[in-house]
Amino acid sequence: MRDDYELMKKKVHQSLKLNLSLYKEAQMKRRITTLRDKHGFKSYVDYFTACQKDAKFLEEFTEKLTINVSEFYRNPNRWDVLRKKIIPELTKNKRKITIWSAACSTGEEPYSLAMMLEEYFPNLNYQIQATDFDQAVLNAAQQGNYQERSLKELPAALKKKYFTSNGTIFQVDPALRKYIRFERHNLLEDRYPKDVDLIVCRNVLIYFTDEAKNNIFHHFNKSLVKDGYLFVGSTEQIFHADQYGFYLEDSFFYRKQ
Ligand SMILES: C[S@@+](CC[C@H](N)C(=O)[O-])C[C@H]1O[C@@H](n2cnc3c(N)ncnc32)[C@H](O)[C@@H]1O
Repeated sequence: MRDDYELMKKKVHQSLKLNLSLYKEAQMKRRITTLRDKHGFKSYVDYFTACQKDAKFLEEFTEKLTINVSEFYRNPNRWDVLRKKIIPELTKNKRKITIWSAACSTGEEPYSLAMMLEEYFPNLNYQIQATDFDQAVLNAAQQGNYQERSLKELPAALKKKYFTSNGTIFQVDPALRKYIRFERHNLLEDRYPKDVDLIVCRNVLIYFTDEAKNNIFHHFNKSLVKDGYLFVGSTEQIFHADQYGFYLEDSFFYRKQ
């Protein structure tokens, strides 16, 4: 029933501060329906009420909604462009940069950034703010334990230098944590950081409606310093980027005008 779904969305917004109307509906509804049916509920409202009473249900609900898949050096050729072109451009006239890894999931992206900067820009001073809506993924990011499959794109030298392993779990070097601040941030509700040199926001924009993306791009533009960069996922090119005050510098890299 349509009303039942709409009412559940209201309750989700009130209790989790997650506005499902700003996510593409078909995909979201399919995911929630799968969970509702799995637990044998007839209505969405009854199912979400059960989630509010049971921490395990709620964790599963949030996890299913927020889609946490990530990996180190996701789309490695884009990381090469970041290293060879974007970071050198950004640091032409400064020795310190601020990076925001937005929707960082379990931390693969901010740790990849820290490894890359340590390895190739040893004299650079930098701070990475790594945020996500989901506190559970941020807790995992702070632990820094990974399965080997999430390291498959990481250059071998970085894997060797920055991980220790017992054979199954790969633990990232805790020394990298001093460069990264993990924090909760909801891209749809919260205030955005200021004076950022580089925003890395990848593989979350695809889940949002055009209206939501529109707002996010305007906010990102305000967050960046002049000539700062936005790095998006490899299916997330921005059409008519100039309407948000960006121009395309390289595929999936946008520079603030
Ligand atoms: C597929 S992961 C992307 C991880 C990483 N950026 C990458 O590209 O590998 C999407 C992340 O977006 C987060 N997310 C979803 N909605 C969000 C919101 N409204 N605000 C902040 N993060 C959100 C999810 O919790 C999830 O961790």
